Amino acid sequence: KTKDHHVPRDPELLRLTGSHPFNCEPPLSKLYDSGFLTPVNLHFVRNHGPVPQVPDQSIMDWEISIEGMVDKPYKLKLSEIIESFDIYTVPITLVCAGNRRKEQNMVKKGTGFNWGAAGTSTSLWTGCMLGDVIAKAKPHKKARYIWMEGCDSPANGAYGTCVRLHWAMDPERSIMVSYKQNGEWLQPDHGKPLRVVIPGVIGGRSVKWLRKLIVSDRPSENWYHYFDNRVLPTMVTPEMAKSDDRWWKDERYAIYDLNLQTVICKPENQQVVKISDEEFEIAGFGYNGGGIRIGRVEISLDKGRTWKLADIDYPEDQYREAGYFRLFGGLVNVCDRMSCLCWCFWKLKVPISELSDAKDIVVRGMDERMVVQPRTMYWNVTSMLNNWWYRVAIIKEG
Ligand code: MTE
Repeated sequence: KTKDHHVPRDPELLRLTGSHPFNCEPPLSKLYDSGFLTPVNLHFVRNHGPVPQVPDQSIMDWEISIEGMVDKPYKLKLSEIIESFDIYTVPITLVCAGNRRKEQNMVKKGTGFNWGAAGTSTSLWTGCMLGDVIAKAKPHKKARYIWMEGCDSPANGAYGTCVRLHWAMDPERSIMVSYKQNGEWLQPDHGKPLRVVIPGVIGGRSVKWLRKLIVSDRPSENWYHYFDNRVLPTMVTPEMAKSDDRWWKDERYAIYDLNLQTVICKPENQQVVKISDEEFEIAGFGYNGGGIRIGRVEISLDKGRTWKLADIDYPEDQYREAGYFRLFGGLVNVCDRMSCLCWCFWKLKVPISELSDAKDIVVRGMDERMVVQPRTMYWNVTSMLNNWWYRVAIIKEG
């Protein structure tokens, strides 16, 4: 009974909610095996309502408006973006703030549906810089935020939210208005024909099916900006959150930057490990917020008493070393100051003898600001940004 009959979807995606709206993540092992760039058909999906239907022949005429605290409000078609703005192609990892929510719900049920650890994916996004689109409208000096609004119609009106205006104006942050993903026009689930993509920030701020950009001196007043994507204080219960809007209207609790995360993909939870083998490889991915790299990834086979250091690889460096991303618009340098826009991969080989007493494997990361992943869960009513040590159980055989 979905209203999304026009939307193609890969049967391998794991559905997280009932028939509607559509929310899914890929199987964790598939996500890992597909490597740095996630194939579009496996990219996680987070929709709040039905997916807008936009025929192929009309995507060039798709129009957004730029309004609010600006001297020159204007309307902009997708064809004009392609013709008149510098076009970039940038690898960016998106993450849903609800990633790993299932573990929180198992401890104490909150208000959101269960995500495993695969609510993250990486694509090459093509488009222009959001800041270039805003600059053309000449924002007022007192403006502080850029509101973004989609054309979808979930239960509480069009989905909208905001980020700080100076982030959008900062070319190093690579905040994009994008129309292509991995070289193909956007798929309906991912914002066809136009969306915002914000590196290092929770996916909930990357508005899909973009219709409006509003420059303002205050945070967005959209329902979804208030009542979604917040980490409320841990003592707030579902009942308290439901009965008192003041918890939601405190902008201090709004999430912007992602937090530090590492996930074990190999072995999978409950995987059988053959003790007749000599060595065993433990591997997974990690990501962090605000462009700050993960500086170390540590593995424990004894529940956190002792730790081993894993090797970390940032595949985006190959794009960085190439120095530019080739596009229709020419050759342009991007990603200079934010030191990472994407996830990293890590691995560690351990002699099988060291696994003999282990019942599980634990990972934690530390970023280059020496922030370390916490040992304990910060339970919160929306169960967002869950990033306590990631653990897999292992079963030994032979
Ligand atoms: N934009 C609109 N218009 N409507 C939405 O429901 N969901 C947001 C964001 N942008 C949403 C949206 C959330 S919570 C996330 S995590 C990302 O889109 C997910 O992007 P994806 O589905 O392309 O992975």
